[in-house]
Amino acid sequence: MDQQPTQSMDPLRIHRRVFLKGVLEAGAFSAVAAQPLFAQKTARSGDKVRLACCGIGNQGGSDVKSLFNTGLCEIVALCDTDMDAPHTLDIRKKFPDVPRFQDFRRMLDKMGKDIDAVCVGVPDFSHFPIAMLAMSMGKHVFVEKPMVS
Ligand SMILES: NC(=O)c1ccc[n+]([C@@H]2O[C@H](COP(=O)([O-])OP(=O)(O)OC[C@H]3O[C@@H](n4cnc5c(N)ncnc54)[C@H](O)[C@@H]3O)[C@@H](O)[C@H]2O)c1
Repeated sequence: MDQQPTQSMDPLRIHRRVFLKGVLEAGAFSAVAAQPLFAQKTARSGDKVRLACCGIGNQGGSDVKSLFNTGLCEIVALCDTDMDAPHTLDIRKKFPDVPRFQDFRRMLDKMGKDIDAVCVGVPDFSHFPIAMLAMSMGKHVFVEKPMVS
């Protein structure tokens, strides 16, 4: 007999609506949670958040500019596997003296102590290792995570 599974049949099955509600709440929390980092750094000492940017192409490049334009962060490192590509030129020109990397592990290894937060604007399949390594080092992250895919 064809039977639709329900929540009562399988307590571990998460209802789509409940899941989406949780995701939205988590997203709202992240947005709010990111604010104290910027606020603390700027209010206490006038320091800016030292931001490393991983994936500086299309959307990642737009993120770099948006975050920089807040005036609350300084860009301390740029990372892109295709650093010489035309779509990274805009950011390279805007930040000519910022150290560049093609491997996020080298960037975090070499500059970890000088980085407060990492912006992750690489394709979806590469978000996880970059965000996890950064968070495991105590860094804040901004990740271009799609809500559904
Ligand atoms: N918020 C939005 O409206 C919006 C819109 C478009 C894309 N996105 C998201 O932004 C992210 C990037 O999308 P895109 O369209 O700019 O992709 P893209 O492929 O055009 O650009 C990704 C950039 O990351 C670089 N890159 C790839 N792997 C890397 C790695 N391991 N380390 C460092 N750099 C790496 C690439 O060389 C490229 O410059 C995706 O997660 C996508 O879902 C969000």
